[in-house]
Amino acid sequence: MKLIMTCKIPDELMNPIKEKYEVVTVESDHALMSRKRLLGEIVDADGLFTNVADHIDEELFEQAKKLKVISTMAVGYDNIDLQEAKKRGILIGHTPGVLTEATADLTFALLMATGRRVKEGADAIQNNEWKGWLPFYLTGQEIYGKTIGIIGMGRIGVGVARRARGFSMNILYHNRSKNEEAEKDLGATYVELDQLLKKSDYVVLLAPSTKETYRMMSTAQFQLMKKSAVFINTSRGSNVDEDALYEALQSGEIWAAGLDVFENEPISANHKLLQLNNVTALPHIGSAAIETRMNMARLALENLVNGLEGRPLVHQVI
Ligand code: DGY
Repeated sequence: MKLIMTCKIPDELMNPIKEKYEVVTVESDHALMSRKRLLGEIVDADGLFTNVADHIDEELFEQAKKLKVISTMAVGYDNIDLQEAKKRGILIGHTPGVLTEATADLTFALLMATGRRVKEGADAIQNNEWKGWLPFYLTGQEIYGKTIGIIGMGRIGVGVARRARGFSMNILYHNRSKNEEAEKDLGATYVELDQLLKKSDYVVLLAPSTKETYRMMSTAQFQLMKKSAVFINTSRGSNVDEDALYEALQSGEIWAAGLDVFENEPISANHKLLQLNNVTALPHIGSAAIETRMNMARLALENLVNGLEGRPLVHQVI
């Protein structure tokens, strides 16, 4: 059987797979398989190991004549056309659970870095712009004891709430349904989205990318937020109207934003959002901790092999 892996993973995980299957992958750790090569290779492939950067769309499904299973090394699968996969009886696996804590860590790190202007401070030193201590130089927002509003109280949302509790934050959340456990264990309070936006000092977006959440944060939502509020997005770029975010940040409607995800990735350094001092931007590294990525790769391989060998996937989307 032929497997395509659009990214390289460490040999210790890859070698046992190579003994059993014909594996087609990239040569470098620093680049993903090109779309052109993927479309060519997919024709006679039985399995595909993919990630958030590949577009698994109708064009690809049309090419794939033998494909049985697609395994993404990610919890999110908004880049995969599920309808097309379902139509063709192709199984889809993903990697929830193993990246929860790493992503919650990064989300909280970004919240702290954005609130306390860490990047601006580091840049000032690096660029030799620090002239010495001043009473109100690079003053940011307090974090301890403030109100955090978490949009999307799934696994990662709960992880962020747990960290927020350690900072004695007042925890508000909005979710499709109430999360009784988060309410009981973490003292989180369910509120309507408008209330969350009005009351929070930190608004953290962790909603999955769906038709309903597409650009759910736009002008009206930013206008509801406090002028001192910090907005954090570690979910998907498409959940945010980036033009509206730019306006809100530039006009002082909100105070700052910490972004790990963008509508078009990789975002260009010339993008207008990146010209703002009150934006802290990261290159989609929410789950990028070594152990986490190893666990994601291991789980994605297990899903793939199980699917090919007729066993149930560990985590199956469809
Ligand atoms: C995911 O898993 O969906 C992240 O965005 C990438 O780690």
